[in-house]
Amino acid sequence: MTAEPTQDDITREIQEKQREAAERGIPSRHPSRDFAPYRSSILRHPTHELVKTDPEEIERTTPAFGHIDVDPYESDLTIQHPGEPLGERIIVEGRVVDGDGRPVRNQLIEIWQANASGRYIHKRDQHPAPLDPNFTGVGRALTGDDGSYRFVTIKPGPYPWGNHRNAWRPAHIHFSLFGNAFTERLVTQMYFPGDPLFALDPIYQSIPDQAARDRLISTYDHNLSVPEWALGYRWDIVLTGATATWMEDEHADH
Ligand SMILES: [Fe+2]
Repeated sequence: MTAEPTQDDITREIQEKQREAAERGIPSRHPSRDFAPYRSSILRHPTHELVKTDPEEIERTTPAFGHIDVDPYESDLTIQHPGEPLGERIIVEGRVVDGDGRPVRNQLIEIWQANASGRYIHKRDQHPAPLDPNFTGVGRALTGDDGSYRFVTIKPGPYPWGNHRNAWRPAHIHFSLFGNAFTERLVTQMYFPGDPLFALDPIYQSIPDQAARDRLISTYDHNLSVPEWALGYRWDIVLTGATATWMEDEHADH
């Protein structure tokens, strides 16, 4: 049995992969599906050609949503329980746009995240950090006519995961964009500026292009902060074009 890899092993592997990508020339914003430093990607990346399906046939059985299904209160993750959640209250605001900067309207955005202690309400998350009875960590919103969205939530904590010894994910919020049909759904992660774990994280580092990695990091926006109440972070999502936001493959779960 081989010894559990250390952070140094993983960091070395990340650097090797990035050197290889740089040598290939054109930087890609898409990680390879089997990025070895992210261990579970080796086990679950597709090994067969994708199955082509008739999009109309899929529409007969997949979920749909309408305007009335999304309550504006669902975008505030701090008011879902009788008490206030613990942690740093934040506002996350931005726009969903296409590659030409045109707004993507009426778009269902779903988010999920760990609480301030870095703990998810999920049976597989058993690390010894407290759950918060006043925080579920799930919200959703529809974009407005200008493509804008806004969430009020708690800044998530970093959390350990089993990729290697002493592996910690940088603090992040998962984002899903529903698209116009279920087959168009896109999933990605938003990070916070200045996180010391970026260089060590094989998921974040699986994206070969530094500029594409940077686009996943929100910006602190003092004009978005509300006095005596919350700090504001701004994060725009670009769906297409050369500066598109990276989207993960559908089986990722960290
Ligand atoms: Fe996560």
